[in-house]
Amino acid sequence: MKDLFGNALLDYQNGNYSEDIITSTNISDEDVLPLPYLFRKYKDMPKIEQKALELCKGDILDVGCGSGSHSLYLQSKGYKVKAIDVSKGAIEVSKQRGVLHAEVLNILDETETFDTILLLMNGTGIFQELTQVSKYLSQLKTLLKPGGQILIDSSDIKYMYEDEDGGFWMDMNAGYYGELDYFLSYKGEKESPMKWLYLDFETLKLACETVGLTCEMSVEGEHFDYLARITI
Ligand SMILES: C[S@@+](CC[C@H](N)C(=O)[O-])C[C@H]1O[C@@H](n2cnc3c(N)ncnc32)[C@H](O)[C@@H]1O
Repeated sequence: MKDLFGNALLDYQNGNYSEDIITSTNISDEDVLPLPYLFRKYKDMPKIEQKALELCKGDILDVGCGSGSHSLYLQSKGYKVKAIDVSKGAIEVSKQRGVLHAEVLNILDETETFDTILLLMNGTGIFQELTQVSKYLSQLKTLLKPGGQILIDSSDIKYMYEDEDGGFWMDMNAGYYGELDYFLSYKGEKESPMKWLYLDFETLKLACETVGLTCEMSVEGEHFDYLARITI
């Protein structure tokens, strides 16, 4: 990984903002991911994220924290937060912005336990593929203190396969329709392709049940997106 995502965050943080991140997927054209959005304040967050922050309790783990926006808000409310990310740049920026406990760490290597585990901005993305969901959920389960909760958002992206006549063109012989190849570029450089998973609520719920977790719909968003609350 070249960590172009982290480089972009560092540029913005250090006052060198000149370009946004460009993303695309195997089923969609190029799109702009504005860097200021990755530094959003509470009032600019989607309702789903605001609700997730309201539901937080106890010691919190912010997984894939990015620039640390959610961690900073929670810290300001007096919570003890640990922020982790695989991106070195993201952790550097989180620290510069004031996140007190930020560490370069893959969620699969985390060992501490928490009352709330937060995965936001399509939190299921880090699971990458449907076949890996149980592995990640089982790991998250081991990190929950008694009475703890996982708050995770995602979207049912079936609508992306809908044609003008209302029909769906997805290939039923291919894998699950929420498994995407995700491409990111910044300042003309291309990041290595990544896998990024969107999960519809029912599939997430089923996956939770297979590893002994209970999954409830916490908020339904305006565009097929949702926040789920997962407990043991
Ligand atoms: C879409 S960004 C979301 C950033 C932030 N949560 C936000 O809402 O602005 C996903 C983040 O997850 C991180 N990430 C991906 N896989 C991860 C893993 N296995 N463990 C920890 N972080 C991971 C990425 O580096 C990236 O910063």
